[in-house]
Amino acid sequence: MISTLKEVSRLRNELDARGEKLVLTNGVFDLLHVGHVRYLAEARRLGDCLVVAINADESVRELKGPGRPVHNAEERAEILLALESVDRVVVFPEKRATRTIAAIRPHVYAKGGDYTPDSLIDEEKQLLDELGAEVRILSLVEGKSTSAILQSRSSEDSANAAAPAARDSSSPSPLPRSSPRLAVLGSGQGSNCAAIFAAIEESRLDAEVALVLSDVPGTPILDHARKRNVPALHVDPGTQKGGRLTDAALKEIADRLRAARVDLIVLAGFMRILRGPLLEEWRDRILNIHPSLLPKHPGLHACRRALEAGDPESGCTIHLVDAGVDTGRILRQERVPIRSGDTPESLQARIQEAEHRAYPEVIAEQLRALKGRG
Ligand code: GRF
Repeated sequence: MISTLKEVSRLRNELDARGEKLVLTNGVFDLLHVGHVRYLAEARRLGDCLVVAINADESVRELKGPGRPVHNAEERAEILLALESVDRVVVFPEKRATRTIAAIRPHVYAKGGDYTPDSLIDEEKQLLDELGAEVRILSLVEGKSTSAILQSRSSEDSANAAAPAARDSSSPSPLPRSSPRLAVLGSGQGSNCAAIFAAIEESRLDAEVALVLSDVPGTPILDHARKRNVPALHVDPGTQKGGRLTDAALKEIADRLRAARVDLIVLAGFMRILRGPLLEEWRDRILNIHPSLLPKHPGLHACRRALEAGDPESGCTIHLVDAGVDTGRILRQERVPIRSGDTPESLQARIQEAEHRAYPEVIAEQLRALKGRG
């Protein structure tokens, strides 16, 4: 779907051979609005094929700050390509598009928004000159920009939108009066996620799921979100030893949570360990559920280990997340007797029944406790 520079450069040569013109423009194109749509239609009319070069997510963060982009590069490309005016999308990692312009060699280079011919840096002007490209500055649609749209959200939203990093980390800020926003993070089936959705739908839990995030692409937990039109995101965990999340993955997760203005993070079968500043940022606002009576059997294979230890009972523990593995303050435990003939699977299934009942209740309790602090 996203084209490579090589493919677009080849396309440029084909158009050139036919005496047709390739138009190039570049930008972030986050949260597409009518200003973008009109601008792109105008750019397309300047030639025979419109290529849009979009900034990669990392450079958007550098340009626009944490919490941006709202949509990652693949999503922005998919949205742009759905427009009649856009023929190809490429992604470029730098803040400026100079290298991309050099590789594509457009016949027409279009810029819009608040650009003036003077906004082009010397290097770009010179390059476009050498290429013999026509430079066109297109009109701006009054008052339409992604930043303006984000700023004009309701005052309550804006208050919530303040980056958690800016909060006084010694005392978590009060929760908003509207339904608190949850993020559910998981790596698997998502039966707990489904139980949380059910509790919300049946008004047993006053909250909204703002985001479901997984380190595993195409995993069922993401389907629970998609079915309900809730943003479902895969974040590449990177390739660090022992299944640890890379710093880049942790940063992306934190940025996503901030962008979604999440009040409480709910881990539900998330097979990765959260660490770093994120833990402080959401202190007392990250819950986990574990299939054992902690402190017994933390970590992996808890059901199998309970059976191997000959325990008479097991259960589940809902706890706050700290820097350790399943070591945070315990909020609730539900006991489940172990039966003779139990297998890890049969025990897990019975524990999960308890989990599905308890997790939404504890989430509601924790939200009330956080609200009480306000
Ligand atoms: C749950 O049993 C939970 O205890 C453990 O992972 C499992 C996740 O199951 N941490 P699901 O994805 O919610 O179905």
